[in-house]
Amino acid sequence: MSGGSVTSPAVIELSGVDVFYGASQILFGVGFSVEQGQTMALLGRNGAGKSTTMKAIAGLAPPRRGSVRLNGAETTRQKPHRIACAGLGFVPEDRQVFPQHSVEDNLLIAAKKGPDGRDEWNLERIYEAFPLLVPLRQRMAGRLSGGEQQMLAIARMLMGNPSVLLLDEPSEGLAPIIVQRIGELIRTLRQTGVTILIAEQNMHFCLGLATDATVIDKGQIVFKGSIAALKANDDIRQRYLAL
Ligand SMILES: Nc1ncnc2c1ncn2[C@@H]1O[C@H](COP(=O)(O)OP(=O)(O)OP(=O)(O)O)[C@@H](O)[C@H]1O
Ligand SMILES: [Mg+2]
Repeated sequence: MSGGSVTSPAVIELSGVDVFYGASQILFGVGFSVEQGQTMALLGRNGAGKSTTMKAIAGLAPPRRGSVRLNGAETTRQKPHRIACAGLGFVPEDRQVFPQHSVEDNLLIAAKKGPDGRDEWNLERIYEAFPLLVPLRQRMAGRLSGGEQQMLAIARMLMGNPSVLLLDEPSEGLAPIIVQRIGELIRTLRQTGVTILIAEQNMHFCLGLATDATVIDKGQIVFKGSIAALKANDDIRQRYLAL
C-alpha cells in the first residue's frame, strides 16, 4: 500500500476479525489496513457489516477472534474509552448527540487533547470550520435538523483531537446540499493529515473523497484497491454495491 516507510505500522489494521451478536456471526475473518494519511471508503450494501466493522475498531463490538491494531498497538479487547484516548474519533450512524444539551455543551463535553498532546481543535476553530453551528450554539441538540446534527456529531468528535476518524454513513438521509457540505468538510480534514475511514453505501459520495476502497459483503471483504479501480470495476460494483 502507499505512504510511509516500510517500517511504520498501519494506522488501522484488522486481521481475521470475527464478530458475533449473540449466536449469530456477523463478520467473517475481516482483514484490511489503512495507512497514515489515507482516506479509505468502506463500502457495502445494507446489512453488509460496515457498522459492525467500525464498532469492532472502536471497541463497541469486540471480536471473538482476530485482532485490531491502532498504530501497531493491539486494541482488540480494550474498552471504547481507552481506544478513544489512543486517538480514535468515531461518529456512529445514529450520531448520538446529547439531545437535551445545547450545541455548545455537546462540543464542550467532548473537549480533550489528542494523543501526543494534539490540540488543534477548540471551540473557536470549530466555529470557524462549521459556521452553520454559530447561530445554533444555544439551541438544544435534539431540535437540530438531521444535517445540523451530523455537523455537530462531526464537530464534537473533532473536539477530542483524534488522529484517526471513523465516519459511519455521514451522508445518510441528508439533503444534497448538506451532503455536499459534508464532502467539502471531509476534504478539508484530509488536508490536516489525519487518517479517515468512511462507511458508505453510496460509492459516488466517496469518489472525490477517498483514495482507497474496501468492499464488504455478508461480513466478508470482497474487494480491496484504489477507489479508481473500484469505479472501473463494473462486476464488483454490480455484485456488491447498491447502484
Ligand atoms: N445488535 C445486533 N444484534 C443482532 N444482529 C445485528 C445487530 N446489529 C446488526 N446486526 C446484523 O448484522 C448485520 C450487519 O449489520 P451492520 O449494521 O454492520 O451493517 P451495515 O453494513 O452497517 O448496514 P447499513 O448500511 O444498513 O447501515 C446485519 O445482518 C444486521 O441485521
Ligand atoms: Mg451501518
